[in-house]
Amino acid sequence: MASTQKEIVLSGIRSTGNLHLGNYYGALRKFAALQDDYDCNFFIADLHALTTAPDPAALHANVKNVLAEYLAAGIDPEKATIFIQSDIPEISEMYLLLNMHVGIGELMRTASFKDKARKALGLTAPDDDDDGDFAREVCGNETNKRVNAGLLTYPTLMAVDILIQKATKVPVGKDQLQHLELTRRFARRFNSFYGVDFFPEPTDFDFGGAPVKVPGLDGSGKMGKSEGNCLYLTDDPKVLRKKVMRATTDEGPKAPDSPMSEPVANLFTLLELTSTPEVVKHFRDAYADCSIRYGDLKKQLAEDILKVTTPIRERALDIMADDAYLRRVVAQGAEKARARAADTLREVRHIMGIRGI
Ligand code: ADP
Ligand code: TRP
Repeated sequence: MASTQKEIVLSGIRSTGNLHLGNYYGALRKFAALQDDYDCNFFIADLHALTTAPDPAALHANVKNVLAEYLAAGIDPEKATIFIQSDIPEISEMYLLLNMHVGIGELMRTASFKDKARKALGLTAPDDDDDGDFAREVCGNETNKRVNAGLLTYPTLMAVDILIQKATKVPVGKDQLQHLELTRRFARRFNSFYGVDFFPEPTDFDFGGAPVKVPGLDGSGKMGKSEGNCLYLTDDPKVLRKKVMRATTDEGPKAPDSPMSEPVANLFTLLELTSTPEVVKHFRDAYADCSIRYGDLKKQLAEDILKVTTPIRERALDIMADDAYLRRVVAQGAEKARARAADTLREVRHIMGIRGI
């Protein structure tokens, strides 16, 4: 069958909340564009969500939110395999097996681990971030706060998500590239340790051009859940307009062709993503000749963002109300994803010597 010939693409988003405009432009829209040409597998990383937010009610609700928002943003269950990570028990078993080939040192040195571990312990990163100091900070911490081992082994679990499906292309944001590098390293190590050519080495998906980074409206950096500056795909129009109108700006250009401050440049980045080239040009010209009124820019931006998010929001609300459909989608996805995972796990067990009597 043609679909089995296609390259295997896999990516996931943790179920830690509703999806925002950064997730849409950085991930969902790209996922949807790949469905016709690749064997696409998109999943909800609920086990990964447990590493930072073990709140049963929130986790349960967020799996459904992310699923509905995947579908509303155009991921099509007839084209892509959509599944929930925890529906594939083979992932958990292979996570245990692969951990036997992963060093605690390399996990401790992972940037995302250092970041999240420090957050969990309430520590701030020193300017000269030294791995030795970090190990002492984490291991010698006498408070009652703790860094859970699941957070440390996050990259193992992510590698298993990818390797168990034998995926070769993984569309992820820049912050995930180190995890992908570790995945390649674990795959090579497994292959060479057992003298097999079993796991392919996955690479990032190169979409060409610069990667999209959707900024926040609070002046700097990126839009993100932990930054608390998100425009959610499911924000009510009133809420979304209010958030945009409150966006940080500056006093306005004082001389023709002035350089732009970061908050204003961020508004233009969002405008470029959501508006027509004519609208962007209109406001760029107005900025250049100092006639710009930021209030007008924000009003236009809010309406153009709503043109993108409203259809998604409406579809998401419809889909959320249809539990039978959602259950069908994930059951069908789990069946496909499990079949491949079970094949891989069977071979991994055999290669490692777990072969029965
Ligand atoms: P968050 O930072 O809000 O917790 P995640 O880390 O769960 O979001 O990201 C899920 C996906 O969305 C990843 O592929 C990530 O690269 C992408 N993404 C998140 N925020 C942005 C952003 N501001 N711009 C572009 N892509 C983003
Ligand atoms: N770690 C990813 C993130 O936080 C989510 C994820 C888990 C993932 N497993 C994956 C992404 C496998 C791609 C492939 O965004």
